[in-house]
Amino acid sequence: MNFLAVNIGELVTAAGGVKRGAAMGDAGCIKDGAFYVSEGKIEAVGTRGELEKICRGAEILDCGGALVTPGFADSHTHLVFAGERSEEFSMRLRGEPYMKIMERGGGIAATVAATRAASEEELVRQAEGHLEKMLAFGVTTCEVKSGYGLDEETELKQLSAVKTLNERQKTELVPTYLGAHAVPAGETAESYIDRCVERYLPKVAESGLAEFADIFCEKGVFSLEQSERYLKRAKELGLKLKLHADEMFPLGGAGLGARLGAVSADHLLKIREEDVLSLARSGTIATVLPLTAFCLGEEYAPARKLIDAGAAVAVASDFNPGSCCTYQLPLAFALCCIYLKMSVEETLTAMTINGAAACGREKTAGSIEVGKQADFVIFSCKKKEFLPYFTGMNLVKTVFKKGERVYG
Ligand code: NIG
Ligand code: FE
Repeated sequence: MNFLAVNIGELVTAAGGVKRGAAMGDAGCIKDGAFYVSEGKIEAVGTRGELEKICRGAEILDCGGALVTPGFADSHTHLVFAGERSEEFSMRLRGEPYMKIMERGGGIAATVAATRAASEEELVRQAEGHLEKMLAFGVTTCEVKSGYGLDEETELKQLSAVKTLNERQKTELVPTYLGAHAVPAGETAESYIDRCVERYLPKVAESGLAEFADIFCEKGVFSLEQSERYLKRAKELGLKLKLHADEMFPLGGAGLGARLGAVSADHLLKIREEDVLSLARSGTIATVLPLTAFCLGEEYAPARKLIDAGAAVAVASDFNPGSCCTYQLPLAFALCCIYLKMSVEETLTAMTINGAAACGREKTAGSIEVGKQADFVIFSCKKKEFLPYFTGMNLVKTVFKKGERVYG
């Protein structure tokens, strides 16, 4: 379907590629903007006056004077899993820390047991339900990690579920192998990393089911040295890199990610001062996950410092059954503005083009720009400032993916 989108109160384009530092403050807003969609792609963007002249006779999509933004890219999720961990949540409410529960054999291990026991179809069905709700928050691109198998069969089952989901529904999914998510029971981290490096990573690369490799680089889980070994092997095998870095302890994972040319280093609640600069000086995207900090009752990642230092910041949900059982992006948006001290435009940049870049999709998604997929969201409000102002509320009205109306 070809159409000209007009009567847009405020058009956020996020055009111009990944944005670092001060440039994040410009989300490419056009007053009374318009854009022309042809064969699922953006063919022209400008003001309504300009486009009406060159697109005479085009079918009109009337956006009702509303705010329009690119579709959101959620660049960090653990969407495919079985079971639930509400008891663990209650334990945390009673004061038990996340890492203590993990040390006692709970946490991720509980989801590993449930995921091993589930069929691929069960995993697909549960994830499908979540994707439908994520679409209602405007998510049109979404990274999905494995990591609840810790063995060959289950990790591949999770990745295969992502492939099936990609075929069955509209949101574009980007698969990540997170084999090194936890140390399997009865093993040492060192021997498990040996196995990942020798057997699992080559198998995953050969399967073609993953684009990225990720690791939980954390004190008491996988050390800096083990993470380096795992990530270097993944890179050799042609996988792009991500890592869970400096979430609970300032181990230096962000610096490692920058040094290895990772696409993103995620979490960063406890990032070292010197690694703020390492990220700022590298091409590695600093992904902050404010919903996780919120759910764990931890201090937020220093997004303001990262942006001021010149880093490219992305914001994602980290949806998972343990530390962050939510993908309420409108709440993440408000947390960014209220607690991470990001401006509305910086938050929009972080959730659109920078999020798409953290998914490896900056060339096709994340902005309303000529040549990009026509992935966009029409809101029920007129201006971007309403997004955090209606705190945590979902103002998404209609969502388009590749020029097709997929929600609302
Ligand atoms: O990103 N921290 C490690 N991994 C996930 C949590 C996974 C889980 O608890 O199931 C995270 O927070
Ligand atoms: Fe995570």
